[in-house]
Amino acid sequence: MSEYLVGPADEFLPGDRRIIDADGRSIAVFNVDGVLHALRNYCPHMGAPLCEGETRGVMLPGSPQTFRYSERPTVVVCPWHHWEFDIRDGRSSADPALHARTYPVEVRADANVYVVVRSGR
Ligand code: FES
Repeated sequence: MSEYLVGPADEFLPGDRRIIDADGRSIAVFNVDGVLHALRNYCPHMGAPLCEGETRGVMLPGSPQTFRYSERPTVVVCPWHHWEFDIRDGRSSADPALHARTYPVEVRADANVYVVVRSGR
């Protein structure tokens, strides 16, 4: 298991995104409404730098003839073919069998954010 420093937690605001190099592995950390999530910056479709895409909200369930949209940026859009991936669990809305790799994120006693990578991931 390896841990990678992302930066001070108090400088990581909702909506922020940081991309780090973790021994040659590009990983992005997103702050979604104060909760940190880490995704590999590699699209499982064809290998694009997934986490460099725009973030956006999603359509919510509603009654017939109504449209409800959440402004919370919980989705990242792949810059190559525009498939959407949930930042929180890496799941693709285009193909539920495809997942972007996710990693644990921790804020330690030193008030810094770390990404934890288990070996081989
Ligand atoms: S490479 Fe990401 S959707 Fe195709």
